[in-house]
Amino acid sequence: MTKTHQFDVVVVGAGGAGLMAGLYASKTAKTAVISKLYPTRSHTGAAQGGISAALGNYEEDRPEWHTYDTVKGSDYLGDQDAIEFMCNEAVDAVLELEHMGLPFDRTPEGKISQRPFGGHTNNVTGKPVRRAAHAADRTGHMILQTLYQQCLKNKVNFFDEYQVLDFIMVNGKAAGVVAVELSTGELHVIHAKAVIFATGGHGRIFEVTSNAYAYTGDGAAILLRHGIPLEDMEFFQFHPTGIYKLGILITEGVRGEGGVLINGKGERFMPKYAPSVKDLASRDVVSRAIYTEIKEGRGVDGKNFVYLDIRPETVNRIAAEDGRTNVDGSKYNLTAEQVLQKLPDIIDFCRVYLGVDPVTQMMPIQPTAHYTMGGIPTNKFGEVVVDDKNTPFPGLYAAGECACVSVHGGNRLGTNSLLDLVVFGKYAGLKAAEYANQSEFEKLPVGAESESMAQFEALKNGSGKENVFKLSNELKKVMFADVGIYRNEKDMLSALEKVRELKVRFKDVTVSDTGKIFNTELLNAWELGNLLEIAEVIAMSAANRKESRGGHSREDFPDRDDVNWLKHTLIWNKDGKLEIGYKPVVITKHQPKARVY
Ligand code: FUM
Repeated sequence: MTKTHQFDVVVVGAGGAGLMAGLYASKTAKTAVISKLYPTRSHTGAAQGGISAALGNYEEDRPEWHTYDTVKGSDYLGDQDAIEFMCNEAVDAVLELEHMGLPFDRTPEGKISQRPFGGHTNNVTGKPVRRAAHAADRTGHMILQTLYQQCLKNKVNFFDEYQVLDFIMVNGKAAGVVAVELSTGELHVIHAKAVIFATGGHGRIFEVTSNAYAYTGDGAAILLRHGIPLEDMEFFQFHPTGIYKLGILITEGVRGEGGVLINGKGERFMPKYAPSVKDLASRDVVSRAIYTEIKEGRGVDGKNFVYLDIRPETVNRIAAEDGRTNVDGSKYNLTAEQVLQKLPDIIDFCRVYLGVDPVTQMMPIQPTAHYTMGGIPTNKFGEVVVDDKNTPFPGLYAAGECACVSVHGGNRLGTNSLLDLVVFGKYAGLKAAEYANQSEFEKLPVGAESESMAQFEALKNGSGKENVFKLSNELKKVMFADVGIYRNEKDMLSALEKVRELKVRFKDVTVSDTGKIFNTELLNAWELGNLLEIAEVIAMSAANRKESRGGHSREDFPDRDDVNWLKHTLIWNKDGKLEIGYKPVVITKHQPKARVY
């Protein structure tokens, strides 16, 4: 028996974007937040190193430098009006988190502590600036805790461990969602005037990833099935430093604190690839450098990894060579105690998962699939837009990693993800509540849940020839190998063919667990359906873009091509067939220039 609930605004996802949206919507509208996880277990908690804002707490910094760095980091694909908006909002956003109680680390004077990250620079001197405000290496986790407490205080209604299965639209407007309650298997219809998707990314498409198991592209796949396009899906970020084989993130904050990358010959190699910013070059550059070292035989012991070294004696020697000093000009001198204090989680991860102690040993790392730069197209107020004219879809919003505003363009700068979700989560919440307060409920269609029921029935009654986990592993392997850090036409087209074959085989999947209570096998099967749809979109968008830009690096088209490709990709599912279109990039102040590292 399906249960029905009614709210002005329903938010899907309880990571940083969902909680911020829920918090702001709930100030004026009756709001529910639905999440497949308990909120504080959301993937925002995996963001370690910081949230960017030009607070200038150690040295001069300015929002316009933050804006330019973000535009440049995006390889000029980011929309400059949105980037400027986000970077101007950043200082207030971080101070608001501080006032909510987020336990940031402190400078000796008691201000919020900041650390350097890749691509964060003083635009006049070109030197790194400390722009990443941090709470040790648990910044995302602290954001989740803080926002969840604020939501509870503001009486947001939570539906924890409910998986959203479908979006309800009536008369071309948002009208709610269908969800399954994981603990009972019961279906629920949440009737709403406005719907906000904040469902995160889809890194689980790749074999080695820093992403949580829950990151299966659910929101993007659901909306794609309803005719909403996805934007710039060819752009996926590989973070340079994931734990070898496991993919778990080792924060860029390690290099921010002075850590360096070392190849199998014991050489520091980043100065060769980025002579000016070296180990703090942007992520696409560092990931490609590691890949090249490994490919040319300079991985450690001939394997697919290199080392990340934060041992104080190495850091202090390199700091002296590079001329890095403390803010007051005194000698940079990192101690073992500071490493433990500033990077407690990564020390724990390495000790627990690898038996390696980063204070005395180097960490084996390899690039890991980390961040979804494309997604559900929105404007800077979180309104989902459905065409090249940026026409909003009434009552539908998206924020956080599932959305493409686009502020990250071809490559996201580290710590801009937490900023993105706080800023655009807030505006999505405000705009959705404003819309809901001016609108009436659409009448719910009879059987709004029938499509979801049909999907589950098909999975329970398949022929049984195929196994979810086998298909899932085949998908991850082919996407990591052929649509990964370096790409070419032949590999991407063969990946596309493979994904299509897997989609056909997916129809023969059967789940063996027919129970209702926490049927995770059924849920995994449903999620695999989403991953397959998203993988097809990524492979097709990537094969279509015949240039290299940001995280999309093609061996057969090695240069950026602003004449033909300075444009966003839009991709639609039209009656089961994918169709590609484009929309212009918004350029305000910064004309595209070659990137200098
Ligand atoms: O390296 C990190 O701490 C990750 C941060 C981010 O992806 O922004």
